[in-house]
Amino acid sequence: MIQVKVCGITRVEDAQAAVEAGVDAIGLNFVDGTPRALDLETARAISAAVAGRVVRVGVFQDAPVERVAELVEEVGLDVVQLHGDESPDYVGKLPFPVIKVLAAQDGVEELADRYPRIDLMLDHPSGGGSGESWDYTRARSLESRGRRVWIAGGLAADNVEDAARSALPHGVDASSRLESAPGRKDRKAVREFVALAHSVESERDRPDPRGYFGIFGGRYVPETLVPATEQLTDAYEALREDPSFWQELAAERKEYVGRPTPLYFARRISEDLGCRVYFKRDELAHTGAHKINNAIGQALIAKRMGKTRIIAETGAGQHGVATATACARYGLQCEVFMGEEDTRRQALNVFRMELLGAKVHAVTSGTRTLKDAMSEALRDWATNVLDTYYLIGSAAGPHPYPLLVRDLQAIIGQEAREQILAAEGRLPDYLYACVGGGSNAIGLFHPFFGDEGVKMIGVEAAGEGMQKGRHSAPLTAGSPGVLHGSMSYLLQDDSGQVFPAHSISAGLDYPGVGPEHSLYKDSGRAIYSAATDDEALDAFVYLSQKEGIIPAFEPSHAIAELRKRAADYGEDTLVIVNLCGRGDKDVAEARLLLEKRR
Ligand SMILES: Cc1ncc(COP(=O)(O)O)c(C=O)c1O
Repeated sequence: MIQVKVCGITRVEDAQAAVEAGVDAIGLNFVDGTPRALDLETARAISAAVAGRVVRVGVFQDAPVERVAELVEEVGLDVVQLHGDESPDYVGKLPFPVIKVLAAQDGVEELADRYPRIDLMLDHPSGGGSGESWDYTRARSLESRGRRVWIAGGLAADNVEDAARSALPHGVDASSRLESAPGRKDRKAVREFVALAHSVESERDRPDPRGYFGIFGGRYVPETLVPATEQLTDAYEALREDPSFWQELAAERKEYVGRPTPLYFARRISEDLGCRVYFKRDELAHTGAHKINNAIGQALIAKRMGKTRIIAETGAGQHGVATATACARYGLQCEVFMGEEDTRRQALNVFRMELLGAKVHAVTSGTRTLKDAMSEALRDWATNVLDTYYLIGSAAGPHPYPLLVRDLQAIIGQEAREQILAAEGRLPDYLYACVGGGSNAIGLFHPFFGDEGVKMIGVEAAGEGMQKGRHSAPLTAGSPGVLHGSMSYLLQDDSGQVFPAHSISAGLDYPGVGPEHSLYKDSGRAIYSAATDDEALDAFVYLSQKEGIIPAFEPSHAIAELRKRAADYGEDTLVIVNLCGRGDKDVAEARLLLEKRR
């Protein structure tokens, strides 16, 4: 839940009322000469009245370290909030939890990096105290660097919901707009503010600590895998809050992966479809697909956990190639499980993985595709848990993978959001992405979760057509069940037997899907539909010839769906399609299929 702080408390009764309203923290001001500054006696009385019931934050501005330390001791403060030009050295001298306040100006990201381990509070760009609101979404660029961010300045009941939904902060802070007179808090205003801030279910809260997205997700694994998933959960929870991990990842994304990838305006397709179409060019990331975003991130986690052997499952081979690449980069042993059918469809990727030093196991059980490869990888993990890290390639599988993979792929949407704002000055109307396990789609969608006007369309594989039953569209035509360690929509019969999936595209050929998409489907936050093999093949040719970009079969499904829906859009409708993979791996198969059509 979003933390709520009410600042500038000057009276015991206001502090008590704030506690009753459910605040998480109160702020006591020690900046001499300002209207809400407290004398020692009043501060002690307020602090004593709420001790143990809320976090007591002392607010300072360029005060000598000794004075801060003295007041923390004498008043009884839990946290110190710094509003001045206090340097990182100064912060280092304070043996208390610190929140550093920064103005939301250009360059705030670099400034924040100078205070790596503490909470940050972003205030109005002019420095705060004015009670005016500002563009709270600025907090997101810091959050995407792994920082815990509070927002402050101009907040009250009338805007806290919107601000919290769009900025998704760790906490919100308000003061002057909750007052009936300077220094006097209005009880009703405080109550409303707290209730509305707490009512915003932050995407940060999902999944819950046990890995559930509503009823979906969780950790349905055999006992032998419980310690491994728990160890990974603990490790990731710590790294998630560790800025040094995100800094290392940011450097790798820039130097090695080639991020940010461009957001490209597709002029000829826009003219043809009659709306404004942008492609997020993740096919230009190293190895030719979005899978590298996740592989690099998890390989870094594995390294930090001291694991030396990496296993992975792969469908199209893109995730296998990305994993083999990351392992080569960090000197880790790599073994990849791939359905035998997929080793045939994606022979070139098998060679790539081997060239990169990985061992590829062709899985001959079941339908010999991704589902069977994943089952085999889980079996291997259970046997070799001590030295082995299982690097799952999609936002599926047992907790914490759906969360972990989403966080690592969210860079797609974070970049796209900034890029579309820079290019068009507004957010898009539609996001399109193909959905296999769901990682590229959730990576694009998630950073727009709070932007209510942005509609999301996830496109599954309708294979030979939904009526024929040979497809890979669990969100469109499946029902909830458990597969590969989590509860999600699945292709299954009445007795829970999983159907074999089918798609032209090996990367979408999976009977399950990630749990967060299952929740988005049920809540209506995203719409899911499906494109057939034939429609995808047409789109593959279409993008090649209209824009000179040969897409992978997977995103061809998203383009196919856009072509179907674009008739309803106007010329100002703004669309972003995630071009999550390039088509090199598919040209041989496309050639055979196109020849058959002649
Ligand atoms: C290029 C490409 N796009 C999409 C996918 C589907 O996976 P996800 O739904 O996890 O993005 C794959 C899977 O291999 C892929 O290679």
